[in-house]
Amino acid sequence: MATIRLGDVAPNFTAKSTEGTINFHEWLGDSWGILFSHPADYTPVCTTELGTVAKYKPEFDKRNVKVVALSVDGVESHHGWINDINETQNTTVNFPIIADEDKKVSELYDMIHPNASDKFTVRSVFVIGDDKKVKLIITYPASTGRNFEELLRVIDSLQLTAYHKVATPANWKHGEDVVVSPAISTADAKNIFTKGVDEIKPYLRMTPQPNLK
Ligand code: BEZ
Repeated sequence: MATIRLGDVAPNFTAKSTEGTINFHEWLGDSWGILFSHPADYTPVCTTELGTVAKYKPEFDKRNVKVVALSVDGVESHHGWINDINETQNTTVNFPIIADEDKKVSELYDMIHPNASDKFTVRSVFVIGDDKKVKLIITYPASTGRNFEELLRVIDSLQLTAYHKVATPANWKHGEDVVVSPAISTADAKNIFTKGVDEIKPYLRMTPQPNLK
């Protein structure tokens, strides 16, 4: 297992899932992607997480992001658990769950942290760009469910900063002012960002989010 770092091409794999066999890169196609692991089927926090992701699917679709979950349980177990998720979370699971029984994908993506648990995957998240490169890695322990609002927020930032010469400040949310990339002079920034540039310090220049009407 090689360490996966930001900017690396997301390792490809073929794996069984609740929606058939997936070749990861083919499945991604031209979309962005989220690959996220959970410790085990039929566990309470994971049940709420997968139900939440199902409800957020329209938000991921809007951003051209495909979502795939993973645990080391089998396809039959996943299907049985999906019934429980749908029932208890009042939703319909609408994305594949990988059945990584042989731990091939978990090991490829370093999702098993033996000093936390040698049997189960931790709560890993990999956001992958439409160039198949890894844009974000986050890791939560089994005891803490993830904040999927934060995941949407960070995808908004990743997609904005991929296409515009800006960065997003602390706690930024879609629609708020952004930071001009340090690589651009203020003179150039004033030509590029026609909505205005506020030079607070030579290294701290703010501008309205450029991709809003
Ligand atoms: C859960 O999903 O609820 C969970 C899984 C493993 C350990 C602790 C909680």
